[in-house]
Amino acid sequence: MVTGGGDCPGLNAVIRAIVKRASKEQDWKIIGSRDAFNGVLREPMEIVELDNSTVAGIHVRGGTILGTTNKGGPFAWAVKDNNGNWKEEDHSSEMLRKLEFLNVHAVINIGGDGSQKISQQLFEIGCNIIGVPKTIDNDLGFTDITFGFPTAVEIATDAVDKLVTTAESHNRIIILEVMGRDAGWIALHAAVAGGAEVCLIPEIPYDIQKIIKRINKRIHNSRGFVNIVISEGAYPLDGTHQYQNNDEIGNHNLRLGGAGNRLMHELKENGIATDIRVTTLGHLQRGGKPIAYDRILATKFGVKAFEMVLEKEFGKMAALHNGKLISVSISEVIEKYNYVDLNSDLVKTARDIDISFGD
Ligand code: F6P
Repeated sequence: MVTGGGDCPGLNAVIRAIVKRASKEQDWKIIGSRDAFNGVLREPMEIVELDNSTVAGIHVRGGTILGTTNKGGPFAWAVKDNNGNWKEEDHSSEMLRKLEFLNVHAVINIGGDGSQKISQQLFEIGCNIIGVPKTIDNDLGFTDITFGFPTAVEIATDAVDKLVTTAESHNRIIILEVMGRDAGWIALHAAVAGGAEVCLIPEIPYDIQKIIKRINKRIHNSRGFVNIVISEGAYPLDGTHQYQNNDEIGNHNLRLGGAGNRLMHELKENGIATDIRVTTLGHLQRGGKPIAYDRILATKFGVKAFEMVLEKEFGKMAALHNGKLISVSISEVIEKYNYVDLNSDLVKTARDIDISFGD
């Protein structure tokens, strides 16, 4: 098995569940590749044998005992050319050869959209692969929810709760920037759970004047406070995402960040005189132990994934549909990004309790 992409609370619970379920069958050995597929591709290979004693108690721990990476991979392996410059090579055939050498019958790839794209590519060249959906962003299609997301929401909500008390004490506007890339799920849930006045998500480009109207409704003669939750992927009407520089070799992800600061400047430029502070929650949302819900969901996904191996359901991903465990084709999953549904009950509820989306 491999864990790929950004880490996420619950990964270790999936690993443990796969190992424990496999141990109930005869003749199965579970091995893990270090740092996603890199462990297989490296020379010498970095492979970990996993049994019930190695995974005992790990379900409560954050991160992944196998390590992970969002760089490289079998189709874009970073190597140095003769001039010392980095280039990428397709090492997928070599990986298949190595898997055969290791006598690997099936691969379980626990990862988000980027990792499942790799799963599909590997499946197409003959790898017996099963996917397990993982991401705090909750942006994978064909599953009701991904593990890690509820823990991230809990952490973000706790941050809103704390920021409310300081915003109230100082009569300030506090902006909390949360993760989520192109999906505003974490921001939306934390805003409703924490009781923010404004929630800005990538699915709804915001109008700064509308936000100012909402702020002025709360603040009278410099008294009153406002809590704003903004997703890292939120952007103004006629604007674009706010990116950071990304110079990491082999990491092609555009790194988001700075949406909260940009909003602060926009508010000031438009005449808001109230003090404003910005908090960026960052990787605190990804670290630490998973909440009980995530441990349970991750455990269910792990058991389901191993049973999919037994059933030879290759090219498919474990998923939750209307609360039931199912398997869905990875090719479909990677085509359907899970954006916040603007007609959903939760968005309506948020509007009904006077949360502004800046529209
Ligand atoms: O996809 C998960 C995620 O945490 C996003 O919410 C965020 O934009 C990104 O990963 C951060 O990636 P990195 O850990 O590489 O900075």
